[in-house]
Amino acid sequence: MSDCYIGLMSGTSLDGIDAVAVSFEPTFCLHASHTHPLPADLRQLILQLNHSGSDEIDRLGQLDIALGRVFAEAVQGLLDNSGLLPEQIRAIGSHGQTIRHRPELGFSLQIGDPATLAEYTGITTVADFRRRDLAAGGQGAPLVPAFHQALFRQEGQDRVLANLGGMANITLLPGDRERPVLGYDTGPGNVLMDAWIRRHRGLAYDADGQWAASGRVHAGLLEQLLRHPYFARTPPKSTGREQFDLPWLDDQLQQLAEPVASVDVQTTLLELTALSLTRAIQHHALSRPELLLCGGGSHNRQLQQRLQLHLPQARLTTSAAGGLEPDWVEAAAFAWFAMRTLSRQPSSLAAVTGARGDRILGAIHYP
Ligand SMILES: Nc1ncnc2c1ncn2[C@@H]1O[C@H](COP(=O)(O)OP(=O)(O)OP(=O)(O)O)[C@@H](O)[C@H]1O
Ligand SMILES: [Mg+2]
Repeated sequence: MSDCYIGLMSGTSLDGIDAVAVSFEPTFCLHASHTHPLPADLRQLILQLNHSGSDEIDRLGQLDIALGRVFAEAVQGLLDNSGLLPEQIRAIGSHGQTIRHRPELGFSLQIGDPATLAEYTGITTVADFRRRDLAAGGQGAPLVPAFHQALFRQEGQDRVLANLGGMANITLLPGDRERPVLGYDTGPGNVLMDAWIRRHRGLAYDADGQWAASGRVHAGLLEQLLRHPYFARTPPKSTGREQFDLPWLDDQLQQLAEPVASVDVQTTLLELTALSLTRAIQHHALSRPELLLCGGGSHNRQLQQRLQLHLPQARLTTSAAGGLEPDWVEAAAFAWFAMRTLSRQPSSLAAVTGARGDRILGAIHYP
């Protein structure tokens, strides 16, 4: 158990902090998992920092520390629930909270002070995984394909991992090991659906896609949304709330000749996620691939159905078929990244991010 690592993930959906304790030797093992609530006031402050405004640096500095403390509480919660002791943990890998993702300007900013985490937990903390890839000319994202490759690649069977978080990203894992692993963000995952149902029904998300299932796809709106230049860009590419948010959606709705019922907007947003994912996967001509869903959107039954409809040749399942429940893949990935950093092994895939080469990622904060 001494080779246990903790992974921490707080994604774009702002639905909570996922924490796992895992080990990788002799084979991958998930020892414990825990979701820690993200305090509502911090959630609000994160959303405000997604856009420029006054007092930005002061707000950033304070939120960085406040989040570092909440991340430390998440680690404590995980240890309490599992009975694991800090001495049994080799390191924490913390992704941090993205507040700005601007690869076109050469930066991506994740906060949640890792020094605070190391100080409060007494555990070596590795963080800031994206910086080095950006410094090497990459997008700094997506990073998870390297972990997907390590855990889910299967000889002789083409697999696609689709992570349905706030944004959606795919990893193509060819069954033929001579072929390279590819991956990129396909566009919005849940972020627009979440924002829309929050505005119109006061709910955090559309459970099982039930509301979306009760409406109809508005063809004109769908066509317009799919005209977003991001979808036509060739990889490497990555995206975030900077490109897909409510102001953008409102703008698109205003450009239509007729108003669209709010339920039909929800249905159309779900279709946008399903179709942008589908088109990306179809582009790669895999033979009867297995499609493994992970992330919170993998629980959305309506989304599953639309994906299966658009991808009849694919065998739809979840990451559980590859040995890891869909809710813990991202957090486990950052535990893996911490392990790679400490063993001085590269963990980026230049073919995915577009960097000049694979790099050892992350900065280490000793206890
Ligand atoms: N039962 C469900 N039905 C529909 N959607 C769900 C369900 N459970 C979770 N979700 C969706 O999953 C989202 C959370 O997913 P997840 O935690 O994977 O995303 P994230 O935090 O943005 O992570 P990342 O950005 O790293 O991918 C919720 O905001 C919600 O939209
Ligand atoms: Mg989440």
